[in-house]
Amino acid sequence: MTLSRRALLGAAACSSLLARRLFSATPAKLRIGLLLPYSGTYAALGHNITDAMKLAASEHGGKLGGREVEWVAVDDESDPAKAPANVNKLIAGEKVDILTGPVHSGVAMAMMQIVRQENVLTVVTNAGAQAVTGTLCAPHVFRTSFSNWQTSYPCADVMLKDGRKKAVLMFWNYSFGQESMAAFKEGYAKGGGTIVKEIAVPFPTTEFQANLSEIASLKPDAVFVFFAGAGAAKFVKDYADAGLRDRVALYGSGFLTEGVLAAQGAAAEGIKTTLHYADALDNPANRKFREAFKKATNREADVYAVAGYDTVNVLAQALEKVKGDTGAHSELIAALESARIDSPRGRFRFSKTHNPIQDVYLRQVRGGREAVVGVAMKDAEDPGAGCKMGK
Ligand code: PHB
Repeated sequence: MTLSRRALLGAAACSSLLARRLFSATPAKLRIGLLLPYSGTYAALGHNITDAMKLAASEHGGKLGGREVEWVAVDDESDPAKAPANVNKLIAGEKVDILTGPVHSGVAMAMMQIVRQENVLTVVTNAGAQAVTGTLCAPHVFRTSFSNWQTSYPCADVMLKDGRKKAVLMFWNYSFGQESMAAFKEGYAKGGGTIVKEIAVPFPTTEFQANLSEIASLKPDAVFVFFAGAGAAKFVKDYADAGLRDRVALYGSGFLTEGVLAAQGAAAEGIKTTLHYADALDNPANRKFREAFKKATNREADVYAVAGYDTVNVLAQALEKVKGDTGAHSELIAALESARIDSPRGRFRFSKTHNPIQDVYLRQVRGGREAVVGVAMKDAEDPGAGCKMGK
């Protein structure tokens, strides 16, 4: 070999070494998949989760575990039938490192079937389906929001303490609504309450008139409902317009008024709900979060935004521990299991089934605002029935 050829090869080797060094100094971007509704009745929920995730990431300088975040969003349309294709698009097509979402429990059930096979780290940012941290639980699946049971079971006791022992149930007839009613009934029966009638409404129908007339003729002590998003805004207004607001007390899990209080106006006055968050929670994390969210979006934060914000904050903490190495699966899972954050909802930790153990508050709409009346259940932990982690 001539000297000049050797020199050339040497220079080439040097530059490829340099290129490798440069490359490893800039780790690959962290691709976070968002499977959320950006259209339909839950669109506002999807937007609040997304914007709060972005806000949290920006508070970490746009990086988690040293890797710059890249978002890959898909509109799931709250349609379970489209969920398998949407999940595959994010996992196989977009090759996300972490999957997050959805809002709708039916979408979550379909998503769980796939992520259990695919072993992708998944953080559920809203959907409350029991199976996510119950029968379908998995070591690599966490939920930062709530289980159905946590938001509905405590409300039964609230209603009974108010002396209301005869109730009508009304709900959107899909997994979340059905499970929400089952959890409420469990608590209500224990305390001696009677269910007069269950009214199931197809999702996402908002034609409530005939059902409201039926409630008026049944004359129960109270109505417990599940509606959310745009559907909840309409239901509460229709309930008042039907003249029921002052005659039959309305209760629900907090989704009934969450994020839609301004749209409901005076119609929402007096409604009592149970939820793991309230706008008015008086803690420094909540004050800081609400102010930052308002500044970033010009909208008020709500429980959906809190779940998005906390998702990125727990991920930040866990990814820091593994230095951004999403391939270090068991270390990453262990880091998430031990994550502790100061959430706007108050402190929470993950249960053995990876669902938050958290306080559930009793709220009441007073003067157009959600007042925190008390704690309906301290350290509420979902029973996690049927969960076998199989680690
Ligand atoms: C759900 O389907 O799990 C669900 C949807 C909207 C909510 C709460 C839960 O506000």
